[in-house]
Order: sequence, then C-alpha cells, then structure tokens
Amino acid sequence: MSATGFQKRLTPTRICAMKGGKPIVCLTAYTTPMARLLDEHCDLLLVGDSLGMVLYGMETTIGVTLDMMIAHGKAVMRGVSKACVVVDMPFGSYQESKEIAFRNAVRILQETGCDAVKLEGGEEMAETIAFLTKRGVPVMGHIGLMPQQVHTAGGYRSVGHSEHETSKIRRDAHAIGGSGAFAAVIEGTVEPLAREVTSAMHIPTIGIGASSACDGQVLVSDDILGLFNDFTPRFVKRYDELGKRIAAAAAAYADEVRSRKFPAAEHTFKRRP
Ligand code: KIV
Repeated sequence: MSATGFQKRLTPTRICAMKGGKPIVCLTAYTTPMARLLDEHCDLLLVGDSLGMVLYGMETTIGVTLDMMIAHGKAVMRGVSKACVVVDMPFGSYQESKEIAFRNAVRILQETGCDAVKLEGGEEMAETIAFLTKRGVPVMGHIGLMPQQVHTAGGYRSVGHSEHETSKIRRDAHAIGGSGAFAAVIEGTVEPLAREVTSAMHIPTIGIGASSACDGQVLVSDDILGLFNDFTPRFVKRYDELGKRIAAAAAAYADEVRSRKFPAAEHTFKRRP
C-alpha cells in the first residue's frame, strides 16, 4: 500500500511527540494560496475562527459558522502537503452536548480532510474532548484567554493576574492534559503561569501571548504580515508591512489606468498575421 496524503503530513500524534523538543511552529491559514506559502515553514497550520475578524470584518469570532469553517478548511487542505492542519470548531458548534460536538467535529474532518479540530474551554470541556478523542477525533485544546467567551469575560485581556484566574487556569490545564487532547493552545496568559502549566502538562502547549516558555508558538498570519490593521495586540511581532505594499501597488495601478499607461503594448492581444 502506498503512503496516503495524510501520512505524508505531520500527524497529531507526531506533533504530540514534539513535547519538550524543538519549538513547534504554527501559523493561521484560511485560503489555498496562503496555505501553499506557509506549508513548508510550519509544523501546524490552524484554520482559526479568527478568520471572522480577519477576512470577514466581524468584531468578534462569535458570528463564525460551521459552514464558513468547513469552506476555509477545504481551501487550506488544497494547499498543504506537509503541515498538520487543525480546524477551529466555531462558537455554538460544540458547547451544547458532547454528541453534538462529535457530529460537528466529524463533519469538519469528513468534509475538509483536515487532521484535527480545536475547541476552546478548560475543565468544562474536558469530558467533551475525551468523548471525541475516544471516538477517533483528534482534538487540540485552547485555554487561557478564550476569544469565544469575550462577552462573559468582559473583553479581550490577558489572564493569570489574580489568584482566582491562576487556580482556574491550573485546573483547566490539568483537565485538558488528561482529556486525550494531543496539544493545547494557551492564549494571553502571564509568563510564570504559562511556564508552570507547560512543565506540568505532558502534551505540547502552543502559546499566543503566553511567552517563550511554551512548547510552540502560534500567531495570526495576517498580523505578522501587516495585513490586518484593526488592532495589533502587544504579543504580535510584525515581520512585514504587506498592507502598505498592497495599497502602494493599487495606487500605482490606478495612476497608470487613469493616465492610459496601462495596458501597454505587451499586455495587448494583436490579431494573428
Ligand atoms: O482563531 C485563531 O486564529 C486562534 C489562534 C490565534 C490561536 O484560535
């Protein structure tokens, strides 16, 4: 039997085995061309529900639907040959019951061909994650700052400052570590706590705004490329300013169209002799 596409890509099991080794590299991807560009540089590609804000101009991720995640998951899978692809379960698709979570996770796996799903939540979601993983659905957890809880958390802000938050995140890490998840995102969490839970958990932690103590790092690609300008969180490092370069290219094109410099002879079809 020849190796299938999925066996050529990094699997959730192999990502889990990277715990404590070389840092795991993860970026978000939402489209085929971006997945093609990022694939060879990343261990993990995350089709994050951040796409609601980044691509669709939503104010939060709450309005993202399962159909949106599946459409973008399919697009990313067309551009990947090496990285492990994880698709976010959107708000409302997994919280109601573990059976509904299973049904929706299966839709994501079957319709996109991705390797795993990610869902937000600590101790309250551990039973659901165990239900999914025991039935063949690889799951990445997500603790710390949880953007889908923006309305009950009172906004986006780093966590782990108070004793109450610290003990909640400790309990969340313990529960997710024992739930069968192969890895967990830790978002917006103070450094000493991110360090503590990373060394306590036997699965890799993938940090976003959670310090270099984590086993890997994830950022939103559009943020590091300078494509998303609505706001730049403190934990983002910009590696380029593509937004400014796109605006400059569009301005140059507009000038040339208006001055009839474009299209030139080389862009024009001549009648064959
Ligand atoms: O939706 C997303 O992109 C995420 C990451 C930034 C962790 O959940």
